Amino acid sequence: MGGIPHDHYEPKTSGEKWLDGRLPIIGLLYSTLMAPTPKNLNWMWIWGIVLTFTLAMQIVTGVVLVMHYTPHVDMAFSSVEHIMRNVNGGHMIRYFHMNGASLFFVAVYAHMFRSLFYGSYKAPREVTWIIGMLIFVLMMGTAFMGYVLPWGQMSFHGTAVITGLFGAIPLVGESLQTWLLGAGAVGQSALNRFFSLHYLMPFLISGLVIVHIWAFHTTGNNNPTGVEVRRGSKEEASKDTLPFWPYFVIKDLFALTIILAIFMAIVGFMPNYLGHPDNYIEANALATPAHIVPEWYFLPFYAILRAFDNTVWVVIFAEWISFGIIDAKFFGVLAMFGAIVVMALVPWLDTSSARSGRYRPMFKWWFGVLVLDFIILMWAGAMPAEGIYPIISLIGATYWFAYFLVILPLLGVIEKPMTPPATIEDDFNAHYAAKDDDTQPIVSPAE
Ligand code: HEM
Repeated sequence: MGGIPHDHYEPKTSGEKWLDGRLPIIGLLYSTLMAPTPKNLNWMWIWGIVLTFTLAMQIVTGVVLVMHYTPHVDMAFSSVEHIMRNVNGGHMIRYFHMNGASLFFVAVYAHMFRSLFYGSYKAPREVTWIIGMLIFVLMMGTAFMGYVLPWGQMSFHGTAVITGLFGAIPLVGESLQTWLLGAGAVGQSALNRFFSLHYLMPFLISGLVIVHIWAFHTTGNNNPTGVEVRRGSKEEASKDTLPFWPYFVIKDLFALTIILAIFMAIVGFMPNYLGHPDNYIEANALATPAHIVPEWYFLPFYAILRAFDNTVWVVIFAEWISFGIIDAKFFGVLAMFGAIVVMALVPWLDTSSARSGRYRPMFKWWFGVLVLDFIILMWAGAMPAEGIYPIISLIGATYWFAYFLVILPLLGVIEKPMTPPATIEDDFNAHYAAKDDDTQPIVSPAE
């Protein structure tokens, strides 16, 4: 599929022609900035820009932090305190970076659930989706390794728990765990390699973001109707689209400003709200905190990990059929990674002919439950693994898998979707044209 037909950059001056013949970079920037964009995009399409901004912010603040941070088990904790107390503006730079990770995940979850509702993952945007999933996994890895660096109690014991999970993998587990940590236990070698990778991975993410943008510029953006832009001619396409600059740039910047105002309020007034107080105690291998809790953005997956203990029948069955190779711990690890894998496979699991959830009467409800399920799992993941909480996590985890593996494939067969508007232009006009029509007298019914 070619891109949406639109105007291309023509070099005019002799300097521009010279450069264009050697490196057509102005043309590339022009096509990116002037990309024809569906004119009916709603506010859920702002998150991509928020993510791009946050990625840049994390890299800039991170590079400055590294100028003052020391990746040594005896000095890491105090070097962070040094940043907070002695470095000019250091506490703000650290709080920006620390809360920036949370902003990143708020934005990525909004972005992903937007894609899940409007069917942005469906053909022909599967590659955009898969690249997005790779970015998501790298983001989780980056955030996890970053959390180790301040070398507080949660950094240390959280790392011990999570890397310990790899030890549950049959046969290779123990070697894998040693390889990840660079030693038999969490210590200097782990801190060194996590520091190295934490610095590297945002640049890998940046590379993938470029490929992600390239992919959705090739297919064109999805939009709330799920109807494609007409591509017969430039004139036809221009009825469904507006250039990205200035229309969407201004809209996105407006949204970004509001989001950053909220972010600044958090950074300024409650910077430790989302953190754990135990991470202000220096790591001590001999004192394990009572409850080891990951950061909020890992909680849904953490709940899925803990949901499958050895009282659950599927776990008992798996253990029996595998002659004990798959035990409860390994099953939990498989479930946690499986929860991400089923999401990555959604373009092939959703069998519906309709793209946007807006025109899918049954899907809407199941999707709403999925969002609720995610929130409940997040809450259950923060609770101790006793009493009612493992049962809630188990129900939540079951729904997560059922949604992707059973409900979505079945809905495609039993649901009768509504008819979407014929064109994006029709959808746009239905929302805005009447209000802009100044031939209508502005008279309220009471007059
Ligand atoms: C650093 C992280 C990311 C950045 C900077 C980013 C950036 C963008 C941008 C700028 C768009 C254009 C439309 C919009 O703003 O929504 C977009 C679209 C999209 N993204 Fe991402 N993204 C990221 C992560 C992800 C992840 C984790 C997923 C899903 C697993 C994902 C899936 C998609 C899909 C399916 C689209 C197509 C939607 C459309 O065409 O309208 N993205 N992304």
